[in-house]
This record gives sequence, structure tokens and C-alpha cells, in this order.
Amino acid sequence: MVSAPGAVVDPAGRERLGRVGAGPLLALLDDPETTDILVNGPDSVWTDGPGGLRRAAIRLGDRARLRALAAALVAVGGGRLDDACPAADVRLPGNLRLHAILPPIARDGPLLSLRVLRRRAFTVAELAARGTLPGPVAGVVHGLVAARANLLVSGATGAGKTTLLSSLLGLVPPTERIVVIEEAAEIASPHPHLVRLEARRANTEGRGEFTLTELVRQAMRMRPDRIVLGECRGAEVREVLTALNTGHAGSAATIHANAAADVPARLAALGALAGMDAPAVAAQTAAAIDAIVHVGRAARAGEGAGVRQVREIALVAASDGGRLAAVPALTVGEGTAKKGPAWDRLERLVGR
Ligand SMILES: Nc1ncnc2c1ncn2[C@@H]1O[C@H](COP(=O)(O)OP(=O)(O)OP(=O)(O)O)[C@@H](O)[C@H]1O
Ligand SMILES: [Mg+2]
Repeated sequence: MVSAPGAVVDPAGRERLGRVGAGPLLALLDDPETTDILVNGPDSVWTDGPGGLRRAAIRLGDRARLRALAAALVAVGGGRLDDACPAADVRLPGNLRLHAILPPIARDGPLLSLRVLRRRAFTVAELAARGTLPGPVAGVVHGLVAARANLLVSGATGAGKTTLLSSLLGLVPPTERIVVIEEAAEIASPHPHLVRLEARRANTEGRGEFTLTELVRQAMRMRPDRIVLGECRGAEVREVLTALNTGHAGSAATIHANAAADVPARLAALGALAGMDAPAVAAQTAAAIDAIVHVGRAARAGEGAGVRQVREIALVAASDGGRLAAVPALTVGEGTAKKGPAWDRLERLVGR
């Protein structure tokens, strides 16, 4: 198995985090396959990796110590965590992202969720070697990017959507300009012509907010060849669909959904936030989105539970009644990939 690039915390980051008492947590990151550390209590610490969630054999003092650790870590990330501000989301040195939340909102004590961000994206070849792009999937995703298809990468929380999207950007020809828009900058790509925009929350006086919706509008004026939205999660769906319907082929976004078949309903729900009715979302999506690439975690013989992989590639179609459907083109099962009703259309799309 190819080792995960950039997964370990560098010495300088280690130093700073160690100083506030995060040593025991850092030790869990010595395993380059660790993707998340979840602290539910002083003696309930979990890691996520290729084998799924595992309980770690460490203790972090008592609840008071844990609360102090949470506040100190948030401070290292330039944030604030106290009774007045009981939840925080910050970047930490060493490419870590930390979410922390305190009681009484967290019912049973402080909760920490650490996510390891990659310093460098996996190449598509590395993802294929890890089993993320099984069988014909690797060829199909190459084809989709080359054909400038507009893509939605769907999946549940932590399924590997952002990671796959980052890797796909590595396939975009260097002659094209990519504008990336994110709520919190996460996408890492070696592409030589990629610029990134990050949304901003309002300050304590309620000023200075820069929403994803506004960023999509800005991006359209920046001569993008491809617009990439890290995660489509709200009313910005309207601007994204507009952008994709006005000639920004080869664009992409990730979206939360438990199956490709659930993406239409999710889009309808997001569209409603932007005041769009379901038939309008269906019509715009059918015209804008070429394919849905769904990622999930699969149990595979000999590799333990939880390998992140592409589980399905589906195309979208709007019926006469204005209903949107995700039609399977390729479904990955136990060691096999099965062609679905939209396979022929997918083949035409990727020009084979
Ligand atoms: N194919 C993969 N192989 C190994 N590790 C992976 C793979 N895909 C993702 N990961 C790791 O899993 C974690 C979650 O991945 P990622 O952030 O891409 O998921 P996501 O679906 O975008 O999550 P979220 O729902 O939080 O947006 C990260 O630490 C990432 O490095
Ligand atoms: Mg993500």
C-alpha cells in the first residue's frame, strides 16, 4: 500500500502542540494512516484509519485537564474557546484541523475532533494503488476530467470527497486556470495554475462576511477555465448551477449524500434554501451536471473495514415530469464493477 503523503506533523508543529500538552495525541499521528482523532472524554480517545474507528489506549488526565488542553490548542490555532465562545474550528500547525466544543453544549464534557489534512494531494495513480479507484473507475475519471465534464463528488461525512476532488485537479491540463472556492481552505493540488478563495464569517460586530455565494460570483469574473467549489452545502447552489450553465465546463463540487441516488433530493433541499423550486433545480442540474462520482467506505477482503473508494458513477437525467434522477452508469460491488443503464451515455461522454 502506498503511504499517505504528508500525514505526519512536522517537527516545528510537533514542538508547538507538544508545549500545550498534546503529546499523547501527537503520538497517535505517528501512524501515517490515521485520518482523524476523536476525543470524547479523557479516557475515550478514538482514531480513524483504513480499519475504521478504533479506541486508542491513552488517557488525557481528567475533564478539567481536557478542557484546558482544548482551549490551549484552539489558542495555538488563533481562535478562542471559553464559556462565551464554546465552539471553535481552527487550523493547527502540522496540517491539522481542530473542532472543539465545550459543556454544557457538549453534554458529557469537552469534545475534540482532529482531522489530518494532506499537505500534498494523492495523485490519481496513488489513489488507484490504494484501491480507491477500483477496476475501470480510474480510466473513467481520467476520461471525465479530460472531457471537461462537470462533476459532483458525493459521499457521507469523511468519505474522502475533498481528497478525491484534490486528486482529480491534478489531471487538469496545466494550460487551464482553476479557481477554487472553499469555506475553509483544504484542497491541496500541485496544479500550476490554481488560485484559492476562502469564505469569511462575520466578525463579532456582524461585519465583514464573505459568503460562498458571493465568492462564486467573484470567481466568474476571474477568467476561470474551471470553477471548483470545495463543498456545496447551502444557497450558493443557485450560483453554482448558473455558473455551470454559462459555459464553465470541467467544473466540480463536493456534496454530502449517502448515495448517488440521494443527490437529487439533496440538491432540491439546497435549492429551496436559495428560493428555487424543485422543477427549476431539476432542469438546471440536468443541464449543468454531467456526472456524480460517489465515494464511500467499503469493507474489502484482506484490507480490513473502511477502505475509501469510489462506489458509483451516475449520470443525471430529468424526467418529463420535472423530476431529477441519478442513473447508475457504473456500480462497484464486491471486487467487481457493474455497468448500469447509463453506461452507454457515460462512454459517449468520455469519448470512448
Ligand atoms: N482514498 C483515501 N485513502 C486514504 N485516506 C483518505 C482517502 N480519502 C480520504 N482520506 C483521508 O480521510 C480523511 C477524510 O477525507 P476527506 O476530507 O477527503 O473527506 P470528506 O468526504 O471531504 O469529508 P467531509 O465530509 O468532512 O468534507 C482525510 O484525513 C483524508 O486524508
Ligand atoms: Mg470535505
